[in-house]
Amino acid sequence: MQKGLIKTEEEIIFMRKLGKTLSGIFGELEIIITPGIKAYDLEDKFLELCNKEKVIPSCKGYKEGLLPPFPTGLCMSINQQSVHCFPRKGVTLKEGDIVNIDTVISSNGLHVDSAHCYHVGKTTDKRLKLIETSKNALYSAISKVKASTKIGSISQTLQKTVEKEGFNVLKDYEGHGIGYSMHEFPEIPCYGNKHDGPKLKAGMTICIESLICEGDDQVINTSEWETEMADGKDFCIFEHTVLVTKNGFEILT
Ligand code: MF3
Ligand code: CO
Repeated sequence: MQKGLIKTEEEIIFMRKLGKTLSGIFGELEIIITPGIKAYDLEDKFLELCNKEKVIPSCKGYKEGLLPPFPTGLCMSINQQSVHCFPRKGVTLKEGDIVNIDTVISSNGLHVDSAHCYHVGKTTDKRLKLIETSKNALYSAISKVKASTKIGSISQTLQKTVEKEGFNVLKDYEGHGIGYSMHEFPEIPCYGNKHDGPKLKAGMTICIESLICEGDDQVINTSEWETEMADGKDFCIFEHTVLVTKNGFEILT
């Protein structure tokens, strides 16, 4: 196994503290998500909070393959927009929208990653159900985490929880390990069978992503980084960084 996948006690203490910071930042952002707020106000607030907490917004300038550096600290997608969309100038959130905020912070070289979906003011019952389902799927999947469990158990739980409610999971994107890199082993798909995949080990830190959609799971690119649901229906993500322990798990974010 690749070096560094099993975190030391010191690294765990550090990621736990960083995870609390990220959770606090989400709490601050949630307060200002109201109809009329500009997408870029959330980005500015996020960068201000990172500065105050002395942490690095890992997404800003992040390089992957041949893609241009990621432009912002937040990933933000509204309604049918899907993974890796970013806040753009001139965009305002309106009553009834759902907004996904996915972001990563780092300090001392270690990263933590989390995502939440919020509704802006009052929204439809269908959108509320989509949000509840994505959140429930994440927490059900997290409850499976412990040393020796196969990754497939997480994947199967995500898929079953979501499909039972008549929604779908994305197949083109997935959760991942995290540590000194934002993305490391193992890959954690949102679909599969509990007997599949490598086994979790105590001391691994993993990001479980509940990537779900209202309609068909097909996504299309709208820019080099950005995607949206091909059928124009809603997308919803919740994500936590989770520590694998001998007997279970600890949610770090
Ligand atoms: N949770 C997202 C992911 O793991 C965070 C992406 S940050 C970005 O893909 F910089 F790559 F956009
Ligand atoms: Co992630």
